[in-house]
Amino acid sequence: MKRVLILPGDGVGPEVIQEAVKVLDCLKLHCSLNIEINNALIGGVAYDQAEKPLPDETLSLAKSSDAILLGAVGGPKYDNLPRKLRPESGLLSIRSELDLFANLRPAFLFPQLSKASPLKEIIVSGLDILIVRELTSGIYFGQPRGIRREKGKEPEGFNTLVYKESEIQRIAETAFKIATKRDKKICSVDKANVLETSELWREVVTKMAQKYRDIEVSHMYVDNAAMQLVQNPKQFDVIVTSNMFGDILSDIAATLTGSIGMLPSASLNSLQKGIYEPIHGSAPDIAGKNIANPLACILSVSMMLRYSLALPDLAERVEKAVHTVLDAGLRTEDIYEEGMQKVTTSEMGNAVVEALA
Ligand code: IPM
Ligand code: MG
Repeated sequence: MKRVLILPGDGVGPEVIQEAVKVLDCLKLHCSLNIEINNALIGGVAYDQAEKPLPDETLSLAKSSDAILLGAVGGPKYDNLPRKLRPESGLLSIRSELDLFANLRPAFLFPQLSKASPLKEIIVSGLDILIVRELTSGIYFGQPRGIRREKGKEPEGFNTLVYKESEIQRIAETAFKIATKRDKKICSVDKANVLETSELWREVVTKMAQKYRDIEVSHMYVDNAAMQLVQNPKQFDVIVTSNMFGDILSDIAATLTGSIGMLPSASLNSLQKGIYEPIHGSAPDIAGKNIANPLACILSVSMMLRYSLALPDLAERVEKAVHTVLDAGLRTEDIYEEGMQKVTTSEMGNAVVEALA
């Protein structure tokens, strides 16, 4: 039996998680999904109850689980806490502690929602990009870091951007392997005209490309990639990039689909253990109103079934159920358009379960 840990977190996290858990329960009941589900705290709620955004108990449960489903963390209430106690630190620590170096962020345009994009339909229809973001190194984790305040001197903030060859190799390898199962195209994004880390990054990717002869590889500077994503996004299949560039580009890519409430993500280690979470944040402004879109979280369950639980058939069933409810015209507020049926968070979750069963 596999062990799944649920971390609802903050804001709309618990609301969307509730719907995703309905889906897991339905699969247990009707499709003999054999999992044990545990719950734990992370983020602001963990700080409130245990004075730490990632309590030891949560970390040890996470380490002994096969997969983790996370809602979202953060909220204005915690913005003035010291950095180490902020909800975001809990997320960064769990990524690092579990060595979840490979962050997969699909930007997929559902045909039913092609009008939701801020870009013209002709530019985005059929869009299907996968961003492979390095998640446990780079400037997010490099040492030294800090703010220097010395007497008689101007205060100075500093961070370190550092990548080991092996860290680039493993994320590149992940991207190449995934590309072989997709359109066989990789764009590696860097800033090699300015940064040495990028120079090494490019070297490693170029060398690895020789091992994957059937993959078409290109390199692009990050500023150009940002522009190309908006101008002609369909040129991309797999994008592989560093931690911070991936953070920024994945927000652009998600926005192209017009529905950040629809996109799941996976953060994996070398053993395919992972955290699955919607791309959207905790959205404190709409928390507790039962209007958040649970589909990103439900699609995260589908990614979990595919990558950590090795059950691609069940993953596909969940995706099909999501298509069914969209085809039926059900829309939460974020993706609502005239003529469709507006539903709440829980109504959407129930509809997916019904379509599944
Ligand atoms: C993300 C988020 C996080 C990140 C924050 C909340 C630490 O923006 O998952 O993209 O920067 O990685
Ligand atoms: Mg981000």
